[in-house]
Amino acid sequence: MNASPEQPHAPRVVLGVSGGIAAYKACELLRRLTESGHRVTVVPTAAALHFVGEATWAALSGRPAATETWASVHEVPHVRIGQQADLVVVAPATADLMAKAAHGLADDLLTNTLLTARCPVVFAPAMHTEMWEHPATQENVATLRRRGAIVLEPAVGRLTGVDTGKGRLPEPSAIFEACRRVLARGTQERDLAGRHVVVSAGGTREPLDPVRFLGNRSSGKQGYALAATAAARGARVTLLSANAELPDPAGVDVVRVSTALQLREAALKAAVDADVVVMAAAVADFRPAEYATGKIKKVDGVEPAPVALVRNPDILAELSAHRARPGQLVVGFAAETDDVLAHGRAKLARKGCDLLVVNEVGDGLAFGLDTNAAVVLAADGAEVPVPHGPKEALADTVWDQVVTRLRAADAL
Ligand code: CTP
Repeated sequence: MNASPEQPHAPRVVLGVSGGIAAYKACELLRRLTESGHRVTVVPTAAALHFVGEATWAALSGRPAATETWASVHEVPHVRIGQQADLVVVAPATADLMAKAAHGLADDLLTNTLLTARCPVVFAPAMHTEMWEHPATQENVATLRRRGAIVLEPAVGRLTGVDTGKGRLPEPSAIFEACRRVLARGTQERDLAGRHVVVSAGGTREPLDPVRFLGNRSSGKQGYALAATAAARGARVTLLSANAELPDPAGVDVVRVSTALQLREAALKAAVDADVVVMAAAVADFRPAEYATGKIKKVDGVEPAPVALVRNPDILAELSAHRARPGQLVVGFAAETDDVLAHGRAKLARKGCDLLVVNEVGDGLAFGLDTNAAVVLAADGAEVPVPHGPKEALADTVWDQVVTRLRAADAL
């Protein structure tokens, strides 16, 4: 990443650090924030300073860390820091810190800052699995989210010591991305708050034998961009990830699947209470009729047997035909190599979904790239072209179309 100098109108970010071993990872988040031109004031709690000292925060942010409520009282920093911020991000956010924030306690500079901040607030929790799952923590998280704070889902993996589970601090790169999106969109745009969205991503693999499969070239990037942008817009997101080798987007519940049949089962289950289901995964239309439990061996002088295929169920068509709840929106994707719009319109009608995002694929187009161009076709006749740009931009256009229709349905 190139260091970019701090601009006079650069967004002011407060990085709150509470007392957990993951505090050291906040250094990497701080570096990303400063190198991308944000003005960052670090507010570590007294406990955080046991893990990473004041000098490190000052050196990395280029300004003194704010630690004391009672320092420079005439400048009222306990009020100013929060009031002047464009974004407050707390990483790591311990169970204790979130409990204080949920109850409006203000016994140190960070909790004072949280109480005076009127900007978006992002919490990146890190704690032991038991603490995260405890009803007290879950209720505090729900309270914070209800009030508009963004509480990222902790990652799953190795925790302090030998234990593993849910509770790991999301990767600094994922927290940074969440912050960047929140800053770009502002506070008004949490237009998916209170909605549950399900997104499938990646490409299914249909096994032939224990070492071989029929697959496709989908990277999962578009589906992951849809999941990340929906989370940034306030949705509860379930991401059904089929063989994508991408980091989990922050704040998203990731369910891993591999085959079309597994994806179908996971999609039907997740769709039960979903407001929106987006099928961005490339689902294999066929699977081998037979699965060889042992590796298929070549035999000299013998021609290989042809591979017999059977049809996979069409998950998008099934979700569209049997909506799990009234008003549920179903969105499909179509990858076409030629006659893109005509094929797209026919597919929209055939699948019975509400929106179909049609993009052109082929050599050097869409697959594995970070950019995409498409047309969003709607069953109600709308047609929204999306110029070539980042997959996040296409994702936001899809959510704009979804939000318009959800709101229209709410108004009925
Ligand atoms: N899809 C699905 N289940 C399948 C195949 C596709 O849910 N068995 C979904 C994809 O997730 C995507 C949409 O259907 O949202 C379009 O997939 P595509 O493969 O382009 O459509 P097909 O019906 O297979 O059309 P064709 O092969 O004729 O292009």
